[in-house]
Amino acid sequence: MAGKTMRAVIYDKYGGGASALKHVEVPVPSPGKDKVLLKVEAATVNPYDWKIQKGVTRPFYPRKFPYIPATDVAGEVVEGGPGVEEFKAGDKVIAFLGAATAGGLAEYAVASKNMMVLRAPGLSAAEGAGLPVAALTAYKCLVDTAGLKLDGSGEKKNVLITAASGGVGHYAVQIAKLANTHVTATCGSRNLDLVRSLGADEILDYKTPEGAMLKSSSGKKYDVVLNCTSGIPWSTFEGNLSKNGLVIDISPGPSTMLRYAWKTATFSRKKLLPLILSPTKELMESVMELVAAGKVKTLIDSRHPLGRAEDAWAKSLGGHVTGKVIVEFEP
Ligand SMILES: NC(=O)c1ccc[n+]([C@@H]2O[C@H](COP(=O)([O-])OP(=O)(O)OC[C@H]3O[C@@H](n4cnc5c(N)ncnc54)[C@H](OP(=O)(O)O)[C@@H]3O)[C@@H](O)[C@H]2O)c1
Repeated sequence: MAGKTMRAVIYDKYGGGASALKHVEVPVPSPGKDKVLLKVEAATVNPYDWKIQKGVTRPFYPRKFPYIPATDVAGEVVEGGPGVEEFKAGDKVIAFLGAATAGGLAEYAVASKNMMVLRAPGLSAAEGAGLPVAALTAYKCLVDTAGLKLDGSGEKKNVLITAASGGVGHYAVQIAKLANTHVTATCGSRNLDLVRSLGADEILDYKTPEGAMLKSSSGKKYDVVLNCTSGIPWSTFEGNLSKNGLVIDISPGPSTMLRYAWKTATFSRKKLLPLILSPTKELMESVMELVAAGKVKTLIDSRHPLGRAEDAWAKSLGGHVTGKVIVEFEP
């Protein structure tokens, strides 16, 4: 592909939201050692992507501007660089591109062979693109961290998932229900039926007083909370936790970090754990196994062509996504 150019969406400084995205023509990248060139079929916009644009990871990345955002893609292998034997041209895959370099909003992207897996048969590019950050986070929190056993063999756990209608939350409800659990979920009124259809046993509208207090109508105390939203104080969680209840917070701010340090130092039985995903191939394989078995599905909020990627960006930034926002690439 040397010398060829491709369409891409970039931004060249921090801030500016959707209107700062620019459509440009740039050279097709070439895959180095252990890297694979993908023809991108679909990408998703995660909150992580626009948080990077806002400068949240500023001391670390982006390494340089202009920057092509979006870490999560589905695509077709074009060619592998030196050291790539596991994938061949034509393979349909999903990949996590790594935020330092990203590159998802472009016709072609370079992925590490260690951060991609084959797509399950029948899984569309759009459904696959939704998986990397959101589904891996849900799996990491519930299975690796909270210890839920997806063969149903563990003791019964009461699980609360907040923002269950969002990207992480909708995968989390499906994954949690594979274990021996009673799942309570919070979402807005427009999504009550949808979240129930994902498997949640009890649903709380977060805009009602009971929902804001996280009180399940059955009075159950939660053994595990996966908090996919922000702004809920520890005191609200605390009264609703079982004796050894654990809250996993995936959007930890300074107060979470302080509370975590205090709880650790005082050997508190009720625990608060900030968690930032480190994607791995093993996690991708575990999630793809569930997808292949029909146990986890991607709910698509909206689809946008690459030429209107700014609409996808604005949709995610607006905070009212149901499932995943997808950018699709015309053949
Ligand atoms: N730590 C990590 O590694 C990691 C990984 C992935 C994501 N995250 C973070 O986790 C958060 C969630 O990500 P996401 O992709 O799931 O976001 P998302 O898809 O944008 O979530 C949007 C959904 O959240 C619902 N929601 C908003 N406020 C709520 C509240 N107070 N109670 C209940 N539901 C509420 C919205 O419902 P309505 O439209 O009805 O308001 C909407 O359906 C983000 O801050 C993201 O950056 C962290």
